Amino acid sequence: MSRFYLTTPIYYVNDVPHIGHAYTTVAADALARWHRLAGDEVFFLTGTDEHGLKVARSALEHSCSPQEWADITSGRFQEAWRLLNISNDDFIRTTESRHHLAVSSFLQRIYDNGHIYVGSYQGLYCVACEAYYSEDELVDGNCPDHGRPPEPMEEENYFFALSRFEKPLLDYYDSHPDAVRPATKRNEAVGFIRQGLRDISITRTSIDWGVPAPWDPSHVIYVWYDALVNYLTAIGFGTDEDRFTGWWPASHHLLGKDILRFHAVWWPAMCMAAGIDPPGQEIVHGWLLVGGEKMSKTRLNQIFPADLAADFGVDPFRYHLLRDNGLGPDGDFSYEGMVERYNADLANNLGNLVSRVATVVEKKCGGVGPAPDPSSALSEVAAACYRDTAEAWDRFAPNEALEATWQLIRATNAALEAAEPWKADPGPGVDAVMGDALEALRIVAVLASPAMPSVSEEVFRRIGLDTFPSDLALPGAVAWGGYPGGLPVLREPPLFPRRATPTPR
Ligand code: MSP
Repeated sequence: MSRFYLTTPIYYVNDVPHIGHAYTTVAADALARWHRLAGDEVFFLTGTDEHGLKVARSALEHSCSPQEWADITSGRFQEAWRLLNISNDDFIRTTESRHHLAVSSFLQRIYDNGHIYVGSYQGLYCVACEAYYSEDELVDGNCPDHGRPPEPMEEENYFFALSRFEKPLLDYYDSHPDAVRPATKRNEAVGFIRQGLRDISITRTSIDWGVPAPWDPSHVIYVWYDALVNYLTAIGFGTDEDRFTGWWPASHHLLGKDILRFHAVWWPAMCMAAGIDPPGQEIVHGWLLVGGEKMSKTRLNQIFPADLAADFGVDPFRYHLLRDNGLGPDGDFSYEGMVERYNADLANNLGNLVSRVATVVEKKCGGVGPAPDPSSALSEVAAACYRDTAEAWDRFAPNEALEATWQLIRATNAALEAAEPWKADPGPGVDAVMGDALEALRIVAVLASPAMPSVSEEVFRRIGLDTFPSDLALPGAVAWGGYPGGLPVLREPPLFPRRATPTPR
C-alpha cells in the first residue's frame, strides 16, 4: 500500500470562502477520494492561514481581535467544506499550539544551520500578497496581482540566505523533472531561480500577530514562512518524528499559480536549509475566473459555494468544477456554463440512464434487477473506461477522468437504444440487456464517486445495493459481474431534474 499525502494551500482568514477556494479544495478532495479507492493510505490536509498583517487589519476593520476574527472566519471555511462533503483527515489552523511548536523547531534548525542572519530591510510591501516587490516587478507602480500600490516599509529583521540555494534548487529540479506539474510551471519556477535569488527577510517587528522567532522573540516570523510549515506540522514535525518520516516527502501540494514562487522556490530551499527533503510534488492550477477576472473581495465578483450548492445540489456543483476546469489553465465560471453541463452530462446522460433502467426493470422485470451477462460487449467498454479513468486521475486530470467515465454512460444509453428493451416482451433477452445496464451503472457509480460521493451512494441505493462505493477497493470494485442480480430496483423521481437554460438579459 503506498502513502499519498495531499494538501491544499491554507486559506487566509481575511476572506470568506468563494468558489475559487472551493475549486482547489474540491479538486483535492476528489484526488484524495480517488487514491483511497485505489487502495492508497491517504492523508488529506486543508486549513487556514491566520497570521500576518492582512488578517490583523481585517480584524481591526471588523472591530475584533485577530484571534476572534480568525476563529469566525476559519469556522466559515470549515462550514463550507462540510457542506461540500470534503473528506479532509485534518484541518490545520496556524494559530494552534502544535503549529507554533513546529514553526519554532523548523526555523530554529535553519538558524542553527547558519542560514539566517540579521540585517535591515527597506522595500515596497503589498499587504494583500504579504510580500515585498522590487520596482521592476510592479505594473504601473502597482502590485501585479492586486493592482494596488505597495507600501514603503523599513525594518530591521532576520534574513534567510535564499541566494545560497540557487544551485541546489536548480540541481534538484534537474534531477526531479516531475517535482512541479505541469511542465510549464516547472519551467517558470526554474526561470525565477535562474534570474538569481535574493535573500529574503523572514521576520517582522512591525506587527506582533504571528509566531515569535525562537532565537529572538522580539520578532515574529513572516507569515509565509509560518504558513508553509503547516505542511509539516500536521504530520508531526517537531512533535512526532516517526509519524513525520512516515509521511514526508510523500507529499503532493495542490496550489494556484499565484503562489508558485513561494512553493516552488522558497519552500524547497527552506526544507533544504532545515536538512529535510523538499516536498515530493507540487501540482499547480490556474484560476477560476468570473467574467475573465480573478475573484476577489476588492473586485466584488465573488460567488459563494453555498449559493450554487443550494441551487444545483452539492454533487452537481462539484462535478461542474471538476469537469469543466482542468488543473492547469485558467477556467471561466459562468452560470450558463454550469446549466449546460448539468443538463448535458447529469440530466440527459447519467440521470436519464438511472430513470430508464428503473422504469424498464419495473415494467419488464417485476422491479427486480437481473444479473449481467458475463460476456456482454459492454464489459470491454467498462474495462477501457476504468483504464482511462484511472490513468487520468493518476495524472491529476479530473476533467479527463470524468470524461472517460462518461464514455460508459454513453455506451450504455446507446446499447439500450439499440436493443429497445421497452418494446420487447419480458424474458431472458430483456433480462440480459437490463442486467448489463445495471452493472454499467454500478461501475459508473464507483468511478464517479470521487467527484460525486453522495450521488454515487444514491445510485447504489436505487439499484438495490446496500454497500457504499467508498467502501470498495479498485480494481475488484469495477470488475465486470459485480452486480449480483435479484435486487429491488427503485423507481424514484429524476436524480437531476432538467434546468431551463437562462436567457441572456
Ligand atoms: N494563505 C496563502 C497560502 C498559504 S499556503 C502555505 C494564500 N491564501 S489564499 O486564500 O489567498 O489562496 C489560497 C488558494 O486559493 C491559492 O491556491 C489560490 O490560487 C486559490 N484561489 C483563490 N482564488 C482563486 C480563484 N479565483 N481561482 C482559483 N483558485 C483561487 O495564498
